[in-house]
Amino acid sequence: MLRIQSLSKSYRLGSNEVQVLRGLSLEVGAGEMVVIMGPSGSGKTTLLNCISGIDLPDDGTVSLQGQVVDYQSETERTRLRRHQIGMVFQFFNLIPTLTVRENVALPFLICGIRGKQPMRRVQALLEEVGMGHRSEHLPFQLSGGEMQLVSIARALAQRPALLLADEPTGNVNPHIGRSIMEILRSTARRENSGLLMVTHSPEHAAWADRICFLKDGRIACELLQHGQRDALAPIHEKLLTLEI
Ligand SMILES: Nc1ncnc2c1ncn2[C@@H]1O[C@H](COP(=O)(O)OP(=O)(O)O)[C@@H](O)[C@H]1O
Ligand SMILES: [Mg+2]
Repeated sequence: MLRIQSLSKSYRLGSNEVQVLRGLSLEVGAGEMVVIMGPSGSGKTTLLNCISGIDLPDDGTVSLQGQVVDYQSETERTRLRRHQIGMVFQFFNLIPTLTVRENVALPFLICGIRGKQPMRRVQALLEEVGMGHRSEHLPFQLSGGEMQLVSIARALAQRPALLLADEPTGNVNPHIGRSIMEILRSTARRENSGLLMVTHSPEHAAWADRICFLKDGRIACELLQHGQRDALAPIHEKLLTLEI
């Protein structure tokens, strides 16, 4: 579903060049949940941004649903974000002047899709994430956790083939964090979409099928899960050996 091969990305800061990703390769299957862990500054957000085309990779290839993405084409990057990829950010990125309903409807409005059916889907998505009763609120009237639930509903609106989530539980309380994990996990299974999530939480990482550790610009090692959500010990062990 998602195949990343030898991805490289560096940033120039004045005369300094920071090589963030150094030939990173990674695959995510349909319906699979993969977690990326790694220290702050190791390039986790850069990786997600390069996949979604928010940032441009320097080198390497990304294929999505069997097609190599042409990041040089702005049209293709736009199409990618509108139709193939749903994104959940650490700080929600809701539009402050739009209501909850309008925020979730935005992916449809941007594509010129109007009418009763998309609005029914918006309401169903809001119900699904438990925010049906907040549809006329503005983002500032919500808690951080509620904002994240709304942003997840927005990310799911177009039934994306790939869901990218950057520390989605980083700024929410543990109770909502668990709901978020349940929604992301069950949606990926039901819709057969790939889910690539960054987290610092071993507890939330344990929901994944695979956990990849990012170090020195590459995936340093992978941990396969066998459906044992409570098997946290090996994760803690890995974290210690990698000094993450
Ligand atoms: N736009 C940018 N310009 C310059 N340096 C950047 C930019 N974005 C990220 N970096 C640098 O790239 C490195 C990786 O950042 P990031 O991907 O945000 O890490 P993480 O998400 O793992 O904490 C950091 O050293 C950061 O300072
Ligand atoms: Mg980050």
